[in-house]
Amino acid sequence: MATLELQHISKSFDGLKAIDDLSIRFERGSVTSLIGPNGAGKTTLLNLVSGLISPDSGKILYNNQKLNGLAPWQRADRGFGRLWQDVRIFQNLTVLDNILLARKNHPGELIFKNIYQLNCIKQFEKENIEHANRWLEFVGLNKKQQTLARDLSYGQQKMLAFARLLNNDANVLLLDEPTSGVHPRFVEKIIDLIRNIAKNGKTIIIIEHNFNVVAQISHTICLMIKGRIELQDNPNKVAQSLLLKEVYLGI
Ligand SMILES: Nc1ncnc2c1ncn2[C@@H]1O[C@H](COP(=O)(O)OP(=O)(O)OP(=O)(O)O)[C@@H](O)[C@H]1O
Ligand SMILES: [Mg+2]
Repeated sequence: MATLELQHISKSFDGLKAIDDLSIRFERGSVTSLIGPNGAGKTTLLNLVSGLISPDSGKILYNNQKLNGLAPWQRADRGFGRLWQDVRIFQNLTVLDNILLARKNHPGELIFKNIYQLNCIKQFEKENIEHANRWLEFVGLNKKQQTLARDLSYGQQKMLAFARLLNNDANVLLLDEPTSGVHPRFVEKIIDLIRNIAKNGKTIIIIEHNFNVVAQISHTICLMIKGRIELQDNPNKVAQSLLLKEVYLGI
């Protein structure tokens, strides 16, 4: 079943076509990697899916419902989550607080619930902590709950950002270079993590420059050039393609 579908999407900036009549389907439980040279339109594609920018034309459908016109927070409510290249966690909060803060729809945000339904809030808090701990364990940070985020290594900070995303029940994960700047020891962990997340039925779209990583985690690789998908296939086929060699090795 297709969860996310882009139909004939185009987006220009000052007359330059960043995305050019692009159509693609992302299946549930699949990992799709976007690769391609600088300026190919990879980040623009993620921005269009997460709602940061709107397409000039074309449709974005999620479970057959149109997403066009919905703000990023409305898409987050529908299960879209983004991992930023520059991590974006709260450096001065503990690992656990980073996760707890990100949880959506906290009843304590409603003033009348605060006054009349304290028990409901306490129950939510308890479940919130249990939920957070589950994901911290999943990414291997359960022993670091009370550590300040700024005291984690960069690789651990990326794992924390993953845990926060998962704790918010995101179903479509948009990952912008999740392994960049990370120690090789954590790259392996992140690869395992992404594989496990996909097995849990999530839809994953990832921008990644490291072809080694891409080949290990992707079901499908899309090679983008000038706003179009010029090649879309499984890692073996893409690795053998002349076009890839031309683009990456200049031969
Ligand atoms: N907000 C913007 N305003 C103007 N031009 C933009 C904007 N965002 C992207 N572009 C242009 O659109 C094209 C595609 O950019 P994009 O950032 O999507 O490429 P990319 O594939 O992510 O490249 P990189 O690998 O360098 O991150 C580029 O020519 C870029 O300069
Ligand atoms: Mg980019």
